[in-house]
Amino acid sequence: MIDRHIFLIGMPGSGKSSLGKRLAGRIRMTYIDTDQRICQAAGCTVTEIFERYGEQAFRNAETNVLAEIAYEPPAIVSTGGGMVMREVNQAIMRNHGVIVLIDRPLEDIMGDIKLDRRPLLARKGLEEVPRLYEARIDVYRRLADAVLDNSQGYYNGMYNLEKLVRSLFPWG
Ligand code: S3P
Repeated sequence: MIDRHIFLIGMPGSGKSSLGKRLAGRIRMTYIDTDQRICQAAGCTVTEIFERYGEQAFRNAETNVLAEIAYEPPAIVSTGGGMVMREVNQAIMRNHGVIVLIDRPLEDIMGDIKLDRRPLLARKGLEEVPRLYEARIDVYRRLADAVLDNSQGYYNGMYNLEKLVRSLFPWG
């Protein structure tokens, strides 16, 4: 049995949510998306939270949600791309699960990322993506217990992620 959370970290558009949801179905675990959790609690979208209350309020909500999830039964947890930027969030993830970086090349992300549901990017445009990538990639890599190379398309990514998770929990 997988007895810890599996936190998926990585850039917006790296595939955390689509791969995480599918993986959870395949290995019969609960799937949690931190953005969705925040939106359910707030009763509005991420974009509306940014507009009405500002980015810091969203970041506080991220930490609160993560702290809540930490004490729930093991799940596949897809995190927002900025989750790793607070040390407290890093500590929660380290203490309560394994952390898998979904590593997708910047060019691929740029090729198909949707800006509409991503307020940080929508406001500043596509050129914000490389800037965020540069600011975050070392943090993602340093924090990750394992890295999924998601450069070969969805089906390869899915296959390799399942293999990776099974190797992390060989008794699972
Ligand atoms: C953010 C990424 C988003 C969401 C919010 C902020 C970021 O999640 O949490 O818009 O700072 O990179 P995704 O990574 O799922 O797009």
